[in-house]
Amino acid sequence: MTPIALPPLTKDLVRVLIDADTITRRVNELALQIDNDYKDLKDNLILVGVLKGSFIFLSDLCRRLNVKHSIDFISVSSYGDSSLITGNVRLIMDTRENLENKHVIIVEDILDSGFTLDYLSRNFAARNPASLKSVVLLDKPERRKIAFKPDYVGFEIPDVWVVGYGLDYAEQYRTLPYIAEMVPVTD
Ligand code: PRP
Repeated sequence: MTPIALPPLTKDLVRVLIDADTITRRVNELALQIDNDYKDLKDNLILVGVLKGSFIFLSDLCRRLNVKHSIDFISVSSYGDSSLITGNVRLIMDTRENLENKHVIIVEDILDSGFTLDYLSRNFAARNPASLKSVVLLDKPERRKIAFKPDYVGFEIPDVWVVGYGLDYAEQYRTLPYIAEMVPVTD
């Protein structure tokens, strides 16, 4: 089989932080962990991907799960004064499924300040799910402004700007197969 050529680094992508094989291995491990944790469940597991950044992680993760599940999406937006403790996240598009009595796993590409997952957790908890957990591919603990502890974490990363595997810079680079560190070139 012809190997897939990796897109070359551009001048604002300074290094590959997590390569594609390492991501694949870790996503497989997360799927195994989730399979094991939900193995006694007959039904009603739902993965909710937070658009847009989670779309690639979610699609890889769900295809490696053996436990029966469905998927849905939600879209939120951060706005206003990011120094506020809460209230800077608003709902853009809700899930299509009713989450009541479902076992919900929120799927995120990255946990940064914590505002998004804090908001979604409180919002979803109010819908009376049977259980609620979260999985994040990347966690930047140094950036946290509100305490939040996800149930599953792919990688802890330092406080650098990252793109690829769903994450963007001004809508660019989402489809890179690796996670790269980016320093925007200003000239
Ligand atoms: C990113 C990411 C998370 C959120 C995490 O979304 O996908 O949803 O930020 O940040 P927080 O922990 O500081 O809340 P972004 O607003 O960049 O939108 P996108 O997913 O559409 O790229």
